[in-house]
Formats: sequence, structure tokens, C-alpha cells
Amino acid sequence: MRRPSAISSDFAKEVNPIPEGLDPLRMPQHLAIIMDGNGRWAKAKGLPRVMGHRAGVEALKKTLRLSSDWGINALTVYAFSTENWSRPQEEVNFLMSLFQNVLQRELKSLKLEQVKINFLGDLEPLPAGLKELIQEAIDSTRNNKGIHFNVCTNYGGRRELVLAAQRLAERSIKGELSPTMIDENDFASELFTAGEVDPDLLIRTSGERRISNFLLWQLAYAEIHITDVLWPDFGVSDLKNALLDYQSRRRRFGGLEPVKTTHLDT
Ligand code: IPE
Ligand code: IPE
Ligand code: MG
Repeated sequence: MRRPSAISSDFAKEVNPIPEGLDPLRMPQHLAIIMDGNGRWAKAKGLPRVMGHRAGVEALKKTLRLSSDWGINALTVYAFSTENWSRPQEEVNFLMSLFQNVLQRELKSLKLEQVKINFLGDLEPLPAGLKELIQEAIDSTRNNKGIHFNVCTNYGGRRELVLAAQRLAERSIKGELSPTMIDENDFASELFTAGEVDPDLLIRTSGERRISNFLLWQLAYAEIHITDVLWPDFGVSDLKNALLDYQSRRRRFGGLEPVKTTHLDT
């Protein structure tokens, strides 16, 4: 199993042990999270919505650290959707600055802790400063051996599928591919998640029971855990509960018998 790691100097360097009751051999390899409920969290406290986003960053840092320590190989989180541009300009601006400030502040420890960070989505429309920093973060952690941390930013599942279709069409026109031979592997290799296994578990916070255009292709056989907890309140016991729920599932992938999915199988 990968060497567990600390994520930020804010946290003690000791590795968080895997809680009692969780089977270390049946952890999801890839965990995806729709981090929802920041605005409602703030509203409930009489704060402006954006304070919820700020608090959400702390929950994310904690979750990344725990995921890494508990042996999850990849964490993919939904930070900003292609639909989120429709929010008030002020909130969008705040989020863009927040992404930039947090990345600036955390990049050094992410590097130290061997996190391999990637940003999934159409990054072109992001502010120039943020784009540069994202590129630096991707380039400087590319060879890291720790957890894969994928931040979906201006991400939309439909957009991703359309872009993949465009690239496959271009490759066909160039004669590199025969259209009738295009298979699921070709398609998956054109997605932002190319090279990553599909998520085993999707967590959505704040009680919403929908996918909201997240990882439409990749979630085909993910187990889904929905919790009413608002994202800024999501902590160690919530992650543990989600993983216990996951470990109680019998994944059949369309067959009749449960399929074992452990680190040891792959
Ligand atoms: C999720 O929290 C974060 C983003 C979408 C950026 P929300 O901002 O959607 O919070 P609610 O759903 O309004 O409470
Ligand atoms: C999904 O949450 C997007 C992110 C968490 C970044 P939303 O709050 O945007 O989704 P809806 O509007 O409730 O479907
Ligand atoms: Mg929301």
C-alpha cells in the first residue's frame, strides 16, 4: 500500500490510523465527492454564502489527508461546474480567488506530501493567474507517488463527453482511428480522467439526490452514498460512515454474484 502522508503543516504529521471496523483491504481505490451545501451551511449561521466556501476548504483538506492516510489511491472532487457560472458574479469571483489563494498557500505541502494534483475540466475560461498556478501545480507534482487529487474545475460531464467525441472524430479524419472500431477504452482515454480507474464510491453531501453533471461516464458502476451533512461539516466520522456503507455493499456489475473489489485484485 502507498506510504500514507500528511497534507498540510496545519495538521499533525502522524498518520491517521484506519478506524476500527473499516477493512483496510476493501477501501475504494477511487473516491469521488460532490461537495455540496456550503451556501446552506453559511446561511444557517447567518453568514454570507461565501463563508461557506471558505469553510468548505477546511473540510476538503481534512478529507484529502484522511483519504491519503487510509489508503485511498485517488480522490476526485467537484469544485466548480460548467453550470456554476450562472451564479451571481460576486460569488463566482470569490470562488476563483479562493481557488487561487488556497492553491498558492497549499502547493508547497502538497508537493512535500507527494500528492499528485490534477485539475479536470475546461480550464481555458479560468482567470489567467489561476490558470498559471494550476499548470505549475500539475507540472510540479506530475511524478509524485502519493494520492491522486483531482479537482474538477469548470467541469461538466456532458462537456467532457462532447470534447471526447470531437477528439475521436478528429483522429478518425486523420486516419488514426476507424470510426467503427472506436471502443469504450478509446472513449475513456479521451476523457479528463484518462488513466484513472473509475470511482468506486461517490459521496454527495447536503442531502441532494442527483448527479448534477458530474462524471457521467465514470460513475457507471459507482456505489452512491448520500448524506445530509453539509460539506463544511463533513469530518472524520462522516467519511468513516460513507466507507462503512461502501464496504457493506455487494457490487455485482450486472452479474449475479458479488464481485470482490480490493486493492489486492488490481
Ligand atoms: C457547493 O456548495 C460548492 C459549489 C457549488 C461551488 P453550494 O454553493 O452549492 O451550496 P448550497 O448547495 O447552495 O448550499
Ligand atoms: C454541484 O453542486 C457542483 C459542485 C459541488 C461544484 P450544485 O450546488 O451546483 O448543484 P445543484 O445546482 O444543486 O444541482
Ligand atoms: Mg449546491
